[in-house]
Amino acid sequence: MKNIQSYITENKERFLNELIELLKIPSISADSAYKTDTLKTAEAVKTSLEKAGCDHVEICETPGNPIVYGEKIIDKNLPTVLVYGHYDVQPPDPINLWDSPPFEPVIKTTEKHPDGAIFARGACDDKGQMYMHVKALEFMTSTNQLPCNVKFMIEGEEEVGSVNLAPFVKNNHEKLKNDVILISDTGMIANDTPSITTGLRGLSYVEVEVTGPNRDLHSGLYGGAVANPINILAKMIASLHDENNHITIPGFYDKVEELSTEERAEMAKAPFNLENYKKALDIDAVYGEKEFSTNERNSIRPTLDVNGIWGGYTGEGAKTVIASKAYAKISMRLVPNQEWEDITNLFQKHFENIAPEGVKVKVTPHHGGQGYVTPIDSIGYQAASKAYEDTFGKTPIPQRSGGSIPIVSLFEQELKSKTILMGFGLDSDAIHSPNEHFGIWNYLKGIETIPGFYKYFTELSK
Ligand code: BES
Ligand code: MN
Ligand code: MN
Repeated sequence: MKNIQSYITENKERFLNELIELLKIPSISADSAYKTDTLKTAEAVKTSLEKAGCDHVEICETPGNPIVYGEKIIDKNLPTVLVYGHYDVQPPDPINLWDSPPFEPVIKTTEKHPDGAIFARGACDDKGQMYMHVKALEFMTSTNQLPCNVKFMIEGEEEVGSVNLAPFVKNNHEKLKNDVILISDTGMIANDTPSITTGLRGLSYVEVEVTGPNRDLHSGLYGGAVANPINILAKMIASLHDENNHITIPGFYDKVEELSTEERAEMAKAPFNLENYKKALDIDAVYGEKEFSTNERNSIRPTLDVNGIWGGYTGEGAKTVIASKAYAKISMRLVPNQEWEDITNLFQKHFENIAPEGVKVKVTPHHGGQGYVTPIDSIGYQAASKAYEDTFGKTPIPQRSGGSIPIVSLFEQELKSKTILMGFGLDSDAIHSPNEHFGIWNYLKGIETIPGFYKYFTELSK
């Protein structure tokens, strides 16, 4: 029987070229100007699933971007793996910081990727990682080695909060019925240090607006006598953290799960080099909540960050003005048990409370979602771990990530199954940033590792 290594060697060029074609289509879900391209991407994913051996593939319309669903059912008595991924991408801006155009993929080597990496928006998040599953399926079907049933659900709105996926999941329990959900949309520690993501943070995303006077004013005539909304907003934002970098919103930490000393000691064993971390980001010190390590700060602790702030005059030269309004976009990363809707309400109340006289404050919630943790003693985790052992020659390290895939907790709630997060990206792959890339080694390693998951999951389910 043909093995996966030789299959990859024979098809490597084609695997790369197919991904490159997919990366050329700008499926930017945040920008309606790219609607046609986004639909084109869904069609391309559909075609790729058909070619990879799915018996039935359909484009499921939603009020937003469609969901591509595909399946290959070989025997109702065998387990079913549901693969989830997303074909939409983040906007590429700031576009001038890209070394090559975001939708014209190029291959270049980097320090972390001496064998080359594909540079393009979506290369790692998530077209490249999603497509590994398509190629792994192709291998299993074309060599008669698919050991169980498989379903694919590839959405086009992950980067904008999966608003239409939630009702789709709720209304399609039977169609999506599965024994385990498999996702490659996260990262791992390093190419020689494989890890499996066991947790994701939740999210609450809000926008705030501070209004002062009813019009922009001359900053000489009125300056000092009326509240300047930008000054006020800056002050209000600054007050959201105390001197230890704890968040000051009353009740914010009430449901935060405190890890035991043992669990923290276990976490601290994961390889991490602070000097390299600082060097990679050109910073001379890390910053964050007192009494927590960098790895804890970015995974098991909740955060509050301003993602954007604007108001007043930002054009060339100087304009003396007191703006009528100031704005900010604020995200809070949450840990399991923190209910995102509660946190949004707590934020809103607190922000309104701390507004001084002379301004009006409006808080508009955007989207959110729950965090997620998965145990390592499940059949799914064990199957993934064995698959990595085979292809990396090492047992992967379980690690909680700071990122969010809010729909994962909804999957558990609605479909009653666990999600296994087999991510093959690196933190340095610059997802959401200019010059996003995905290592060719990582892409092929993913394709190599995934069939092992199917094999071990089917065996362990017996
Ligand atoms: N794939 C990422 C999430 C991710 C990346 C998790 C790396 C862990 C490691 C996903 O596409 C994403 O960007 N999620 C958003 C949230 C979403 C609601 C916009 C995020 O984490 O900011
Ligand atoms: Mn993603
Ligand atoms: Mn993303």
